[in-house]
Amino acid sequence: LERLALGMARDHVWMEGISFPTTILGDLKSLQDEFVARDEDVIVISYPKSGTNWIKEIINLIRTRGDPSWVQSVVSWERTPWLESSFGLELIKKQKDARFYTSHLPVQFFPKTFFTSKAKCVYIVRNPRDILVSGYHFWKAVKVTKNPDSFEGYFEWFLQGNVPFGSWFDHVGGWLQMRGKENFLFISYEELHQDRRASVEKISQFLGTKLSPEQLDSVLKNVTFQAMKDNNMSNLSLLPDTLMDHSKACLMRKGIVGDWENHFTVAQSEAFDKVYQEKMAGIPPASSRGS
Ligand code: A3P
Repeated sequence: LERLALGMARDHVWMEGISFPTTILGDLKSLQDEFVARDEDVIVISYPKSGTNWIKEIINLIRTRGDPSWVQSVVSWERTPWLESSFGLELIKKQKDARFYTSHLPVQFFPKTFFTSKAKCVYIVRNPRDILVSGYHFWKAVKVTKNPDSFEGYFEWFLQGNVPFGSWFDHVGGWLQMRGKENFLFISYEELHQDRRASVEKISQFLGTKLSPEQLDSVLKNVTFQAMKDNNMSNLSLLPDTLMDHSKACLMRKGIVGDWENHFTVAQSEAFDKVYQEKMAGIPPASSRGS
């Protein structure tokens, strides 16, 4: 990873009108045409800052039936590699059975074989206002994306979709077209917060893994905000300095629902609602508390 980051220009790359981190594969078209998804694959897909790492941790622990040794000994980006980075793609190719990987790619960039496979996808959604706040803090520290300087400026970027992986509205709107497919599970950050046990049971049922009550307890114990914050294999603190300035932000920031209320002015809140209504017209919310 460090090797990859060395020599990379700061900032971002544009592809088909979307801003990506500079760690993105140079040739997304080849990924789209050539990557072969398998029926046994499990994939976490999300717009950045939706709670991706939380879902990944939960699924890793479901797969080890609550045994925390795997999540405590292997860094998260090796356990669940990124489809859209060459480092991640190499790791995915080395995974043997029941591959488990992750992606922030908008639907129009996804490998074609995925849509005809039975690969299971968990897509996590979150209130975009909280995503905006989370991203504002996080991207300040990331050295391979554009860095926000003021909240006001970042707020505008977000509404325009001029942020890593593009517009939230387009990402979610695009992936929500998969709703109702048997191999897709949509889950919201807010429902995970509200009822962790029921959410983990829902995910394990979707993956076809039956957990004993003790195993479920162990999963739950290891995916609390504090447990993940304390786990260096999960909290991104081991990401090389060439990728992230750890003095500026951390992944495990607050982990709450509704922090946007501490950041948005009344005018911003109204402006956001207006854009939301325009862009999401006709798209039912993925969860009752998600928007
Ligand atoms: P905040 O910045 O609002 O705290 P992603 O993994 O997609 O980058 O999302 C990161 C967000 O998920 C951060 O939100 C982080 O705190 C939150 N998060 C990660 N693990 C969590 C957990 N176990 N419980 C609650 N929130 C969690």
